[in-house]
Order: sequence, then C-alpha cells, then structure tokens
Amino acid sequence: MTTITDTQAIAVLDKFRRPLRDLRISVTDRCNFRCTYCMPAEIFGERYEFLPRADLLSFEEIARLTRIFVSLGVIKVRLTGGEPLVRSEMDKLVAMLADIDGIGDLTMTTNAYLLPQKATALRNAGLHRLTVSLDTLDDAIFREMNGRGFGVSRVLEGIAAAEDAGFRPIKVNSVVQRGVNDHTLVDLARYFRERGHIVRFIEYMDVGNLNGWRLDDVVPAEEIVARIDAEIPLEPAESNYRGEVASRYRFKDGSGEIGVIASVTQPFCGDCTRLRLSPEGTLFTCLFGVNGTDLRTPMRDGADDAELINIIRGTWSVRTDRYSEERSSMTDELRSLRKKVEMYHIGG
Ligand code: GTP
Ligand code: 5AD
Ligand code: SF4
Ligand code: SF4
Repeated sequence: MTTITDTQAIAVLDKFRRPLRDLRISVTDRCNFRCTYCMPAEIFGERYEFLPRADLLSFEEIARLTRIFVSLGVIKVRLTGGEPLVRSEMDKLVAMLADIDGIGDLTMTTNAYLLPQKATALRNAGLHRLTVSLDTLDDAIFREMNGRGFGVSRVLEGIAAAEDAGFRPIKVNSVVQRGVNDHTLVDLARYFRERGHIVRFIEYMDVGNLNGWRLDDVVPAEEIVARIDAEIPLEPAESNYRGEVASRYRFKDGSGEIGVIASVTQPFCGDCTRLRLSPEGTLFTCLFGVNGTDLRTPMRDGADDAELINIIRGTWSVRTDRYSEERSSMTDELRSLRKKVEMYHIGG
C-alpha cells in the first residue's frame, strides 16, 4: 500500500490560486436544537430520517483523511455538525486528531448544551479552542430561535464548564436576524466583553434551502458595528491572518474585541481556503455547494492514500467557488433553483 510519505504530497491550488488551508469536519447531521434558520422543527420532526450509523465515517476514517488533508496543506481543523457533541466519544476523535503533526489549530463549534459533561474530556484530549453558538441572551427569544425551548442558562452553564476546563477566550457566534434578535446584540457584546470572550456577529445567510432567507432579514455588518459603537466605542483591528472570516473591532477602552462576519454584504471568497467534509465522507468546496465528491466509497473499496490524494487534488484544483460574491447578481428565482447542501449537514 502506498502511504502519504511515499507520494510526497505537496500543496494544491484551486483555479483562483487559493491554497487549501482549513478543513471543517462535520461529524453528524443530528442536533439537539432545532434553530429556525437551520433545522426548522416542522421539517425535522420525530420521523425525520438522519443518516444511518453505517453511513457515517468512523473516527479512524476521519483521522486517516485528516492526515491526508494535512499533507496537502491543511493547518486548521474545525469539528462541527449538526451538533458535534451529540456524537458519542468525541474526545476520542479529538485525541486522534491532536496526534497528527501539522495541525496548528484544532477547534470545535458547538451549541454548548452538552459542554457541562464534556468540556474537561475535550480539553484533556487536546482540543485547542471552542466556539459556542449563542444568538441572544434574551431568554424568550432564545427559546424561540433554538426551536426546542431551551433557556439561555443552559448555554451559559456550558460556557462556564468550558472556562473551568481551561478554554479561554471562547468565541461566541451570534447569527443576527432583523426583527428577531438584532435589538439584543449590544447586550450580548457587553456581557461577553466583561467576561473576556469574543462575540462574532454573523450576517444571516441563505445557506441551504429551508430557511426562507430574504435579503431584508440581513443586518449589514456595518450597521451591527455602528450600533455597538454607539454604546461601547469601537475601533477597527488588524486581521490575525490572511483570509480571516471575521473583521475584528477592539473596544477603545482596551476591554476586548468583537468580530463581524459579513459574508453577505462584504463577501470574502477571494481568500477562501476552506474545504468541508460531510459526516458520510463527501467533500464540499463551498458552504453553498450543490454536489460534493464522494471519498467514502473509494476509501471503503480499498483505495490507498495516493489514490485518495489524487481525488482530493483533482477536486480542489478545479475549484471555482465564489457563491457569496455571485449572490448579489443572482435573481431570487435563480437562487431558489440551486439545491444547496444544508448547514446542519456540513456545519458552519
Ligand atoms: P476562527 O478561526 O475561530 O476565527 O474561526 P472562523 O473565523 O473560521 O469562524 P467560524 O468557523 O466560527 O465561522 C463562523 C461563521 O462564519 C460560520 O458559522 C459561518 O456562518 C460563517 N462562515 C465560515 N466559513 C465560511 C465560508 O467559507 N463562507 C461563508 N459564506 N461563511 C462562512
Ligand atoms: N447564516 C449564518 N450563520 C448560520 N449558522 C447556521 N445557519 C446560519 C445561517 N443561515 C451558524 C450557527 C453556528 C454555526 C454552525 O453556523 O449559528 O454558529
Ligand atoms: Fe443545531 Fe447549530 Fe443548526 Fe442550531 S445552528 S440547529 S445548534 S446545527
Ligand atoms: Fe468560500 Fe463558498 Fe463561503 Fe465564498 S461562499 S467564502 S467560496 S465557502
């Protein structure tokens, strides 16, 4: 069998000369929440059929593919879902990935519901950082938005458990929807500033096909920044690295920072170095992808590393994705014809 070292994999560029740097691994399509913009409860009811267990990549398969991606240039790995922590023994997968040389950043995006039980094991297994999704501190609005009636306190307990386990700062992702939670965003910024964490406000996007997205529902990042700045003065901060998704702003009094992710009003496809692996082993080169590339079938049919590298290289080298840049010139009709992969399937 040929191994990665035999083939001496080297970095790969796409059609716009973008290298492959970030891998986002969705470990499950299941979630214990039913956020209205992601898995509306009317659709994802009791009878909804999620992927059967046998279709999911095993931890060994995920670790093998990750090793290959690292040999092709990946330095950042994010675990996501669905909700990654509903898959059992995630600390074991984290430990397997933490063992791979070359990953400089190993992180996870979670809704925090299961962190009280799991934060310490994740930290001990070698997870570097955590991002928690929390759209608002207003209990009534949060109960509506997560579709399951869970209160904010449960998420705050998860964040506290993560702090106790040694994760700090924690990034808090908030999707802002006009008329839903936008009037609560300054409170969120203030609350986490006082606790040394970093809130990132995300422009609501037309991911997937189920959330009935309308441009009018988007609060532009510029407006988000202005609304916070009016109450807690801000100044722009430099990016941490090229291609950083969030634009950073510091509180002028030195008490911390926020980020805004302006994928609708200021798309950042030009620097997009992200590849997504779905729970059943399909590769998507864009969050708004339609068709993916199946890696599980060749892998289970016995493909060696060199063959898998060829498939991945082939996929990345023809990549021309720039959906967020194209969106503004697409009509609603054209957008609705595109059957995109869902967010809960490939993660944020
Ligand atoms: P850090 O390295 O921790 O700053 O993470 P990140 O900047 O990669 O951010 P994160 O993974 O938390 O992503 C935050 C949000 O940005 C996601 O939930 C998505 O809503 C959005 N996002 C992330 N990557 C992309 C992308 O490639 N395209 C678009 N359009 N949106 C993205
Ligand atoms: N637009 C923007 N962000 C979204 N997320 C889920 N759906 C959307 C959307 N339509 C975010 C979640 C979470 C991450 C996984 O993706 O809030 O932080
Ligand atoms: Fe679950 Fe995250 Fe989707 Fe909410 S946004 S339903 S927490 S996967
Ligand atoms: Fe990358 Fe696609 Fe997002 Fe553009 S829309 S930044 S190409 S994932």
